[in-house]
Amino acid sequence: MSFQPNASYDFSNAVVVITGAAAGIGRQAAEQFAAAGATLVLLDRSESIADVASSLGAPHTGWVADISDAESVTAAANEILSLFGHVDILVNNAGIGPLAPAENFPLETWDRTMAVNLRGAFLVARAFAPGMLARGQGRIINLASQAAVIGIEGHVAYCASKAGIIGMTNCMALEWGPRGVTVNAISPTVVETELGLSGWAGEKGERARAAIPTRRFAKPAEIAAAIMYLASREAAMVNGANLMIDGGYTII
Ligand SMILES: NC(=O)c1ccc[n+]([C@@H]2O[C@H](COP(=O)([O-])OP(=O)(O)OC[C@H]3O[C@@H](n4cnc5c(N)ncnc54)[C@H](O)[C@@H]3O)[C@@H](O)[C@H]2O)c1
Repeated sequence: MSFQPNASYDFSNAVVVITGAAAGIGRQAAEQFAAAGATLVLLDRSESIADVASSLGAPHTGWVADISDAESVTAAANEILSLFGHVDILVNNAGIGPLAPAENFPLETWDRTMAVNLRGAFLVARAFAPGMLARGQGRIINLASQAAVIGIEGHVAYCASKAGIIGMTNCMALEWGPRGVTVNAISPTVVETELGLSGWAGEKGERARAAIPTRRFAKPAEIAAAIMYLASREAAMVNGANLMIDGGYTII
């Protein structure tokens, strides 16, 4: 069965920031939000983000920024807010997943993983939440992972960073929910993107697929569809959730 994005969402009045939108899940989410009428502000460390934005047409824009760098985030956010006035939805999606055995995990790789996956998501939320809180409305969707709630070999820094995303999501949801801003996390199993497939190629991937009750990995479009739901008006009562999209892997 091929997956058709839900065409019923209307984001025509929404300014949507997506980090890590040059590839994978972020890019797929950008395409679905664009089809639903949103004005997209796409952030990535890759310069190709300008081409991704222009391929989606006007009025979408691409911004080169490293989300782990506070100055880079603040500079981009200030420019974005002065250009668009406000941001309605933030999809905190950019992430990395370097792997190594826990006992040999290089410290600089640990620090980089935390800096991008956890600090970066915090910096971007911190940059856009005040405007959302001032307007009394907003949506923040943080990409976590099944790795936030289970151990996966070689993933010590990734698991720790994604567990941190759940903790951060819980606190933000508690503090900002009463002020009109919902904050939720999404935790996919392996998704068929460059990041997902690079860690799960060959026989290792076959074994991983076989261990998932639905017997397959997730598609980027399926994760984008959940992002759209959490960003929608229909999800106003969903706050502080961690939506597992794992084919049932973590129930075993
Ligand atoms: N693919 C999976 O199997 C999977 C599973 C669970 C969770 N996730 C999470 O979903 C998110 C997206 O994953 P993906 O598979 O689409 O990844 P991807 O590698 O395909 O794309 C990630 C994008 O983020 C950008 N990026 C990386 N570091 C950045 C930085 N410091 N600043 C700005 N941009 C940066 C990259 O340039 C790239 O465009 C990540 O947070 C990832 O941890 C992915």
